[in-house]
Amino acid sequence: MAKKAKAAHKSAKAKHRKHIIELEEVWKIYTMGDVEVPALRGIHLHIHEGEFVAIMGPSGSGKSTAMNMVGCLDIPTRGVINLDSKDIAHMTESELAQIRGQKIGFIFQQFNLIPTLTALENIMLPMVFQNIPREDRKKRAEDLLRMVDLGDRMHHKPTEMSGGQQQRVAIARSLANDPDVILADEPTGNLDSKTGTNVMEFLCRLNQEKGKTIVMVTHDEHIAEFAERIEVLKDGVIIQSRKGKNHAGACKGGKKNE
Ligand SMILES: Nc1ncnc2c1ncn2[C@@H]1O[C@H](COP(=O)(O)OP(=O)(O)O)[C@@H](O)[C@H]1O
Ligand SMILES: [Mg+2]
Repeated sequence: MAKKAKAAHKSAKAKHRKHIIELEEVWKIYTMGDVEVPALRGIHLHIHEGEFVAIMGPSGSGKSTAMNMVGCLDIPTRGVINLDSKDIAHMTESELAQIRGQKIGFIFQQFNLIPTLTALENIMLPMVFQNIPREDRKKRAEDLLRMVDLGDRMHHKPTEMSGGQQQRVAIARSLANDPDVILADEPTGNLDSKTGTNVMEFLCRLNQEKGKTIVMVTHDEHIAEFAERIEVLKDGVIIQSRKGKNHAGACKGGKKNE
């Protein structure tokens, strides 16, 4: 195919990527006694399958609230949230828990690894709840640790690893049940900038090589630029939407240079 035709084909394909996450006119109002706190005020956000989106905005702007709802940890006060074409607003707690376990992987600022378990055991744990046989759990956890370059740290506990290594274990764990969507709330917030950039390279790989849809909250402008698209929240509304400047260079086929 000629270069031009190829590019046109690619962009047509991008246009037909289906939405895996849709927020339509989403409101979240917390009630504290007599006071109503509107954390989200009519958000519209569509995320394509395989897209990498960063959510930025000042503290209190509603970023975590939005993430919690995309992650089926909470439901909106008004509006629609479709995850893979299913509206989560009317699901029961047990339906939400099931979707969380199968479709979504979480990465947190504090890593949230279990301190008494080894790296391998931390990754095997989420698979227990999906009834995967022990031998398969172990094999899969080993493969995931190798993928994040921690094949030689399988039996280390979190305190025996650096922050960057712990976050890579957490990245591997987020993939335990092979979810379609990875949600990361400030994944580099506890890391120095060099280690944070290294962790981003692994997140980019999940997006580019494994086709995972990634939604990441960050305060850090430099980190946000790795994403394909940046959405800026303020006072519960999206005030800006733009492309990440660094996505093509750093994320697309970028090689680690360790
Ligand atoms: N559980 C809650 N109860 C009451 N108010 C809340 C709760 N969670 C968040 N808020 C309020 O909602 C707004 C948005 O919070 P949040 O989504 O945590 O913002 P961000 O993650 O951008 O810092 C803030 O004003 C916050 O105080
Ligand atoms: Mg937050």
